[in-house]
Amino acid sequence: FIKPLAVKSNGQLVIVSNRGACTFRETSQGVKGIPSVSGLVSALEPVVAREGGVWVAWGGRFGNEGDETGISCPLPEGDPKYVFQEVMLAPREVDLYYNGFANSCLWPLCHNFIEKSVFEEQYWQAYCQVNEKYARVILRTTKPQDFIWIHDYHLAKVPSYIRRFRTRARISLFWHIPFPPAEIFAVMPWAKEYISDMLDAELVGFHTQNYAQNFLQAAEEIAGAKVDYVSGTIYRERKRTKVVALPIGINWREFESLAGSAEVMQRAAQIRRSVGGDYMLVGVDRLDYTKGILERLQALAWLFKNCPQYRGKVTFVQIAVPSRTDTYAYQELRRKIEETVGRINGAFTENYHVPVRYLFKSLSKEELVAHYLAADMALVTPVKDGLNLVAKEYVVTNANNTGVLLLSPFAGAAQQLKEALQANPFSPRETAEQIIAGLEMPDAEKKRRLKALNNVVRNQDIDWWWEQLRLNWLGDVLQSRYVSPSDKVPE
Ligand code: G6P
Repeated sequence: FIKPLAVKSNGQLVIVSNRGACTFRETSQGVKGIPSVSGLVSALEPVVAREGGVWVAWGGRFGNEGDETGISCPLPEGDPKYVFQEVMLAPREVDLYYNGFANSCLWPLCHNFIEKSVFEEQYWQAYCQVNEKYARVILRTTKPQDFIWIHDYHLAKVPSYIRRFRTRARISLFWHIPFPPAEIFAVMPWAKEYISDMLDAELVGFHTQNYAQNFLQAAEEIAGAKVDYVSGTIYRERKRTKVVALPIGINWREFESLAGSAEVMQRAAQIRRSVGGDYMLVGVDRLDYTKGILERLQALAWLFKNCPQYRGKVTFVQIAVPSRTDTYAYQELRRKIEETVGRINGAFTENYHVPVRYLFKSLSKEELVAHYLAADMALVTPVKDGLNLVAKEYVVTNANNTGVLLLSPFAGAAQQLKEALQANPFSPRETAEQIIAGLEMPDAEKKRRLKALNNVVRNQDIDWWWEQLRLNWLGDVLQSRYVSPSDKVPE
């Protein structure tokens, strides 16, 4: 048994991400923090709230060109556990680094949408500049013994900028989205520099074994590093980087307790009554082309067209959380989704029972859980997704009822949640057939599956994830970053 080092015995934890726990808005009463909608944020918040430390992130506000460090505020308000350190970005930086390089180049590239990826030199330049700015804010606000934990595709060059000034810094990077096969990543003109800079972290984490394997291969083929595939170690210039696959978990106790609250149960019953019909299906996603919302609607249209006995009985509620609304691809998708919802409702409304209810807004946790509770089935059918936490939240919320999870094999969570029904989102027929299989499933089987799913989600929860990560990063599992002459490096 290897005992992990307590983070605080040596230094404090410094979480670094593009989006932080809250997004600031300027109001007439001053700056107000609104909770951010992001899988990454919901997963990291319980970790930093427990460990304490600093969270360095952009607060969603715009600064002037040249502004770097914004406000530092203790969070959560009223019961502070950590400090939020804001990074200021100018409108031009947000446009080129966030809307541009992160969301219009890397995001589509990593989600199998190469044709949507835009390779613009000015996006890349801005990405480098903003990553360097983050590094400066980190160096200014932290100590050499701190543990710098960087998150996601927005900030993969930060490890390298930090190392220029602190060669022995403790740096880990967690990548929350899919990592594509090496030959796809290689299409990006700056791929070699990008991968090499990621290797300045001593530990790089992914949600699945596939993504980790793809990264090892990219390190070998694109960055020319030496790779030991068995131990998941990358060697470059006498330094090593360990690669791990660890699927992020949720804070299930929070969902369990909300699901048991009288107000939330009443609200669930009320939602169910307003929706009407015999069955309610739910989809909860940021409005993103990776989430398969359009494909899901097409599956519903297939169902209503080919199995008319379900008309007037099945209602599908799609909650689409507004996301990246300044980017054209997202505006275009919204238009198509709204058109499709209108077309389906026009064609299949029977006796004034509306088959698709569509909400374009973000919900509070209570409302979210009430929708999970009200639904007979959750449709989590992305065309590609790093992991997907909605799937985990739904099964915990419904642990004591019946409820069916339909999952796409292209969500990272499918590697863990084997007892969910599965359907290929690119096939409307297969998806519709699996929806029917879920609706007609005997209660005993629903309960058996939910129990097995709950075992996984509760055992591999957020505490498990952080503990495993900490063991790999800070426990003595990890050999020194520096390769000694006696170490065996693959030829
Ligand atoms: C994904 C990414 C996160 C991101 C979230 C929301 O889950 O992995 O890093 O925060 O999407 O997207 P946004 O662009 O609004 O931060």
